[in-house]
Amino acid sequence: MEALLDQLVERNELDQEELVCLLQQLKTGSRDRLFHLAVQTRKLHYSETVYLRGLIEFSSFCRQDCLYCGLRRSNTEAERYRLTEAEIMECAEEGYRLGYRSFVLQSGEDAYYTEARLIRIVTGIRRRCPGAAITLSVGERSEGFYRALFEAGADRYLLRHETASRPLYQSLHPGMSYDNRMECLRVLKSIGYQVGTGFMVGLPGQTLSHLAEDLLLLKKLQPHMIGIGPFIPHSRTPLGEMQGGTVDDTLVMLALARLLVPDALMPATTAMGTLDPLGREKALQAGCNVVMPILSPLRVRRKYALYENKICMGDEAALCRDCIEMRIAASGYRIELSRGDHCSYKERPRKYQS
Ligand code: 5AD
Repeated sequence: MEALLDQLVERNELDQEELVCLLQQLKTGSRDRLFHLAVQTRKLHYSETVYLRGLIEFSSFCRQDCLYCGLRRSNTEAERYRLTEAEIMECAEEGYRLGYRSFVLQSGEDAYYTEARLIRIVTGIRRRCPGAAITLSVGERSEGFYRALFEAGADRYLLRHETASRPLYQSLHPGMSYDNRMECLRVLKSIGYQVGTGFMVGLPGQTLSHLAEDLLLLKKLQPHMIGIGPFIPHSRTPLGEMQGGTVDDTLVMLALARLLVPDALMPATTAMGTLDPLGREKALQAGCNVVMPILSPLRVRRKYALYENKICMGDEAALCRDCIEMRIAASGYRIELSRGDHCSYKERPRKYQS
């Protein structure tokens, strides 16, 4: 294991077979050195800084039917909601007053939010929240849509690949196409977005070999942001009775992702905090450097249930921030509310500046 880890750090590269071998060894052996190396690597690019992003979950309607997700369209028991344009902007404004300069607008794949509506929202947030970065996470759309929203001032886009294994991807995403997912990621990057991708750990049928593929895909795509979280079964989905992923297995994947893409911005996900009260802190100790407190209005929080027992359902935006800040500072990090761009990011041409 030591030799493989050395090789990974020196060349930040391993092939599929070596990665599987390393993952096998990490299942039983000590992970301390891996986590230490991941933390060292993060420090090289971002020192002790942890970036906060205000997350606005603005619609729980979804046209897709992903087998793992509580928002899948076949889940007729899911309560659906949409925030109005005014409500979304109020959320961002409240976050702005609290100091946030980075917002993530996330929803199910909801056709109600057309290009025109989202352009109005992005433009409105840019006007009311000067200097803030805007990240969209609204699923697979056309190239024209992605371009128009970038022109309107969206800076970043999150679209997890979910799993790099084509057969596993196809079995979990009825009616969707692996190739289209990859094409969306390629197009987003070519337009100039800072792009985030990532996957779930512990999906039913997922093997170490699949996880090695996920890591190699990250290495190939070189995303600016990487989101990795454990799969958490939702009782109202076809995978409700399956085993979920574990915090420990996810930590290993986070640390390896950090070594393979050393300068990525990596969130300690809510899913980690849901499985373990200290899950997000542990993720920071495995190389993560972003936390995303939820800014959505309290009355809709529970309804954005990708999985059950999600944390942070009762805390107002201000409280949520205090709680997270305390936790992060207690772990020895420095909190930043700034835009938190990727370290390679160059300023946009003036036309896009607030
Ligand atoms: N458990 C964990 N993560 C999930 N996601 C969706 N459903 C679940 C679940 N049951 C993740 C997907 C998606 C992101 C927004 O949430 O990876 O891209």
